[in-house]
Amino acid sequence: MKIAEQTYTLKTGEEILIREGSIPDSGALLDMVREYVLTSKFLIVSPEELAQTVADEARWIKSLRDSQNSLLLLALHEGRLIGNIDLTGSDEPGENPTGLISMGMLQAYRNKGLGSILLKAVVDWARANHQLQVLCLQVVGANTGAMKLYRKQGFEVANRQTNGFSDGEGNRSDNVVMTLSL
Ligand SMILES: CC(C)(COP(=O)(O)OP(=O)(O)OC[C@H]1O[C@@H](n2cnc3c(N)ncnc32)[C@H](O)[C@@H]1OP(=O)(O)O)[C@@H](O)C(=O)NCCC(=O)NCCS
Repeated sequence: MKIAEQTYTLKTGEEILIREGSIPDSGALLDMVREYVLTSKFLIVSPEELAQTVADEARWIKSLRDSQNSLLLLALHEGRLIGNIDLTGSDEPGENPTGLISMGMLQAYRNKGLGSILLKAVVDWARANHQLQVLCLQVVGANTGAMKLYRKQGFEVANRQTNGFSDGEGNRSDNVVMTLSL
């Protein structure tokens, strides 16, 4: 186990359990991600990602659990999976020790402080891990809440591709890469 499970309280008073994800979570995680992808206009998800099977998800979770530089955290409310964050770190010797972060949650739990709790947990873990040097993430410039959350945790814009994102309905926004030096 990389991290002990812990209970947090959201701004609304709801109690949330944060714990590491494991292979039996595969089906529920896949269902939850599909659900929140449908209710976010800012997520960059390829058709291949949406076509993932439970077995694909299980392999992906195993790869994160087997990697000493990677971490998958799940948020649960009253036993139900409501959010996730994953950090995929490079393990290859000689590779730049960078970790890529991705996160999301069900619509009903947004703007209640859960993203801040999840991101802080991952950044604290990466800092204590002593192997990764840089954390990196990709965000749509118009995703104001996400940009605020990442800035608050110390991430800075490293690259901005103007109008590089399309929501598929004719709206364009910047594709932004943010990094945090550990
Ligand atoms: C983006 C996401 C992960 C953020 O998590 P969250 O739990 O909603 O974030 P938090 O509540 O911890 O923090 C968001 C902050 O932005 C603020 N905010 C939200 N929308 C805002 C807006 N339109 N303008 C200004 N500030 C905004 C909130 O008030 C909060 O600020 P505070 O911490 O000072 O109170 C979550 O909303 C989500 O899953 N969205 C859908 C998927 C997604 O976009 N994933 C990220 C892909 S990069």
